[in-house]
Amino acid sequence: MPQRVTVAKVANIPDGGSVVVNVLQRDVAIFYVNGAFFAVDDFCPHMGASLSGGYVEDGCVTCPWHFWRFRLLDGSWADNPKVKIASFPVHVVGDEVQLELPDLPVL
Ligand code: FES
Repeated sequence: MPQRVTVAKVANIPDGGSVVVNVLQRDVAIFYVNGAFFAVDDFCPHMGASLSGGYVEDGCVTCPWHFWRFRLLDGSWADNPKVKIASFPVHVVGDEVQLELPDLPVL
């Protein structure tokens, strides 16, 4: 069963802004755009730039290094949707921002 983890307070992410949180030993970039939250891996698969510092427009974040664009909704690469970075459902509960995380493998 997916689990939810509180990662920030709503007030800590300004509209048009982003934060990076570390969950499951990976950095996740959370964006707040026009009243909606989105969460994707904070690691560009090209050469590893932090996507949280990218420019957001038309539902995509543009990598600050070489301008690859990823859709915030599902992490797909805008130029080739077969390539994806991880994305996570975001829930707002009261004043908390929560990420929905996939099931962890049983070891
Ligand atoms: S590191 Fe992101 S496009 Fe190159």
